Amino acid sequence: MPAMADFVVVANRLPVDIRRDEKGTLDWERSPGGLVTALAPVMQQEEGAWVGWNGAADMHVDPFTADGMHLVPVALSETEVADYYEGFSNGTLWPLYHDVIVPPEFHRQWWNCYDRVNRTFAKAAADVAAKGATVWVQDYQLQLVPALLRKYRPDLTIGWFNHIPFPPVEIFSQMPWREYILEGLLGADLIGFQRSWDAENFLRSVKRLTGHKVRGRTITVGTGAKYPTRKVKVGIHPISIDTPSFMKMAASDDVAARAREIREELGHPDVLLLGVDRLDYTKGIRHRLKIFGELLRDGLVKSPEVCMIQVASPSRERVQQYKDLRDEVEVTVGRINGDYADLGRSPVHYLHQTFPQEEMAALYRAADVMLVTSLRDGMNLVAKEFVAAQVDLDGVLVLSEFTGAADDLPQALVMNPHDIEGAKRTVMQAIEMSTTEKRRRMRALRRRVKDNPVQKWAEKFLHDLKAAGQ
Ligand code: G6P
Repeated sequence: MPAMADFVVVANRLPVDIRRDEKGTLDWERSPGGLVTALAPVMQQEEGAWVGWNGAADMHVDPFTADGMHLVPVALSETEVADYYEGFSNGTLWPLYHDVIVPPEFHRQWWNCYDRVNRTFAKAAADVAAKGATVWVQDYQLQLVPALLRKYRPDLTIGWFNHIPFPPVEIFSQMPWREYILEGLLGADLIGFQRSWDAENFLRSVKRLTGHKVRGRTITVGTGAKYPTRKVKVGIHPISIDTPSFMKMAASDDVAARAREIREELGHPDVLLLGVDRLDYTKGIRHRLKIFGELLRDGLVKSPEVCMIQVASPSRERVQQYKDLRDEVEVTVGRINGDYADLGRSPVHYLHQTFPQEEMAALYRAADVMLVTSLRDGMNLVAKEFVAAQVDLDGVLVLSEFTGAADDLPQALVMNPHDIEGAKRTVMQAIEMSTTEKRRRMRALRRRVKDNPVQKWAEKFLHDLKAAGQ
């Protein structure tokens, strides 16, 4: 463990799940999720430190090295998990930044705790960063960290990247602590977003809600007299996946065999539709089920010839909106299966589970059509993983226009999940697409994903950060 690191990542979560066995011995396992997949390879190459929460309440763990990464755990109490993580991060910011699909809740107690926990993260980063180090802060849970860090350590170069959308100023303005959040972010030298819309929304909020000067994608902060002026850059940095390793894994004989086995277990359907998401209301899982249910009802597709696998991995299970969503999804799946199943053959195979990456790759390869129907999504890495797994070029990607991925993957069948009739037509177009057309589209998609792996994303961000920090 280096005493001081030249490169520090600060994220809500550490890239590992830590457990203690009965004897109290520490054990860890690489955790799943887009952020982790995105940054782990970069961390391993860069020999940096990663500051993050270990995922459990009241667990105090000393810094340690895992998977070639130096990890600095931040402990959160039961109350902090409830108020900072489940409350302000996922009950206030998450819905506010995702088009208020469910109403955000504003509680002063949650905000106070968010502020306190952001200080804890900033202090931990300040303690581990070497003089003049580069610190890369991640995501909406840590929006106050850049300014706090700059206060504690003015020598650092600080970047912040938003993995989720940034809302229009009209929605962001609902936030009672909006100026504090903007000022927190403006502590960074470079602020990165997934799409140009997000950057535009942010710049408009800065213009409308602070006194800072905005010119193009540069914000000038500080008064000049008492505080020196400083420039903050805003950039667009669409995130991606570890394409080389995902493509290699998906092309393996084991994954190919498992993909064949999956189709066999399903009784060799003509068409296998697939949905893969965290069980989150932003993902449009109910819309997707409605689309499939109506196609069955209208007789446009028949079970068991056409069937669907929906993987919905458990997420934020103590947050009320997530509990409600689970109930709604499960009732809908039950209803569709009740109406259209035969003995031993269901149209929807619903899996409320988390699977290893190899199994996910096999599912992607087994599927004919991937359905990504998010109502709002910063990027959606599942879409990119599906493309990377299409070794045989025979899968079709149906992709919501409300994902960041829609900008990067224009050869997908891009659709509006709110337009149920239009979406049904798009799914039918995917099912009926000729082999030549499928291959043409998939070849172009694969080129894009191959040419833009997450390593390039990180390199570009860090390059721009260095330039911004000078
Ligand atoms: C999104 C967020 C990440 C978050 C992940 C899983 O991708 O951008 O910051 O880690 O969801 O959510 P969780 O609440 O389990 O960390």
